[in-house]
Amino acid sequence: MDLPKRAGDAPLAVELEEGKRYSWCTCGLSENQPFCDGKHRGSGMEPKMMIAEKSGTHYLCTCKLTGNPGFCDGSHKN
Ligand code: FES
Repeated sequence: MDLPKRAGDAPLAVELEEGKRYSWCTCGLSENQPFCDGKHRGSGMEPKMMIAEKSGTHYLCTCKLTGNPGFCDGSHKN
């Protein structure tokens, strides 16, 4: 299987808490998008650890094409 797998065609709006760590799924296999659920194991890919800089709604990438890992940069439209 070619990875990363496209896990969605639009970002997911999620509430993040300032200073809290999150693991963003880079492989696209997680069933808990946009976060890692461990399904990357054995794929050679690892989740991207991110710390929220501020609390509030953030739009996280599901297409896995973003140039700003974790955050939607509009690449899903390409
Ligand atoms: S399940 Fe995709 S990076 Fe962990």
